[in-house]
Amino acid sequence: MSKEKPMNELPVMQEGEGIVLFYPHVPPSAIEAVTEVLKGRWIGQGPRVARFEKEFEAKFGQGNRALAVGSGTDALHLAYILAGLKEGDEVITPVFTCTATTIPFLYMGVKFRFADVDPETLNINVNHVRELINDKTKAIVCVHYGGLPCDMDELTALAKEHGIPIIEDAAHALGATYKGKPIGSISDFTMFSFQAIKNITTGDGGMLTIRNHDLMPKAERIRWFGIDRSNKQKGIWENDIWEVGYKYQMTDIGAAMGLAALHEFDKTLAYRQNLFQVYRKELAGARGIKLLGVDATDRTHAAWLLTALVERREDFMRKLREKKIESGQVHYRNDRYSILGGRRDDLPFMDAIEDNYIVLPLHLHMKVEDVEYICNVIKAGW
Ligand SMILES: Cc1ncc(COP(=O)(O)O)c(C=O)c1O
Repeated sequence: MSKEKPMNELPVMQEGEGIVLFYPHVPPSAIEAVTEVLKGRWIGQGPRVARFEKEFEAKFGQGNRALAVGSGTDALHLAYILAGLKEGDEVITPVFTCTATTIPFLYMGVKFRFADVDPETLNINVNHVRELINDKTKAIVCVHYGGLPCDMDELTALAKEHGIPIIEDAAHALGATYKGKPIGSISDFTMFSFQAIKNITTGDGGMLTIRNHDLMPKAERIRWFGIDRSNKQKGIWENDIWEVGYKYQMTDIGAAMGLAALHEFDKTLAYRQNLFQVYRKELAGARGIKLLGVDATDRTHAAWLLTALVERREDFMRKLREKKIESGQVHYRNDRYSILGGRRDDLPFMDAIEDNYIVLPLHLHMKVEDVEYICNVIKAGW
């Protein structure tokens, strides 16, 4: 386990005090749209949720359907169920991710094997997936870390060879593309998060894109206790529940925010991607720091996180904090958590970088000059 002292030993930076790591983006049109919703009949799941799903699938699905839910974690849990995973089944899933990718396996009694990182991107290491995969493997989960798509051709080939689905955790990757295809259009299931600080926020919320349209009735039912809600509303529901469902729906309040953000998404994505490129240009060749995932040419980065490997990370963070710049690790290797089975010993790339990776500020409350300032602080050394 890393011996580093916890970051909370550094003073927490207050808003207005400097450049914070994250800041939610809520477009003014979202505030108007939510106000409209609050004056109307549907504030829970209503027509705006259906509209958000339609517009989302048109933009990112390329024929895949979309299901709006209350969080990205809800979307993952539903994806795991819809992929047919059952108690005792085995999956391969990345060690380096938000706990939300892994925790739903505990709800279901699914066994998971952690795959190592690719040290150049922190995405799942395809060679390790190849080593781990066997006849018991029932699905591959991958996370597009920071917004950079994983090696989807290689993962898809492995999944096909074994006749198993891929579930993409694209919580970071709204707007990313892989070989010209939008993330959301490639695999059996792709999950997105609209939690407070994501590329689109609905306060909390998520979306699941689903390739097999025949799964939609089940997906809609288990999003809502197992009840066939549309038939119930028409008064023709047979009034039985025969499978376990959850309360995982999105509300019209959230969907109004999502629609407003979706309508300006190309602009906000381009803004983030430009800040990302400024970092890239300014820090090219800088000593003691290496940006990750910035050189891909066959895929585009959704610019949610800007991650680097740095020497002497704690000193680096202190120096930045002195200059009123927040930085952080954001995610941790999941095998640090005892509930997830504790430390594994077959993850050499994760071991090698765990004390060196760092995330730098990147959000819509920043200007190009803020990035230049951060880069100048870094270039002055720590
Ligand atoms: C990689 C990853 N997966 C899943 C989630 C869960 O999404 P949510 O917070 O919307 O439940 C998050 C973060 O929020 C995440 O970063």
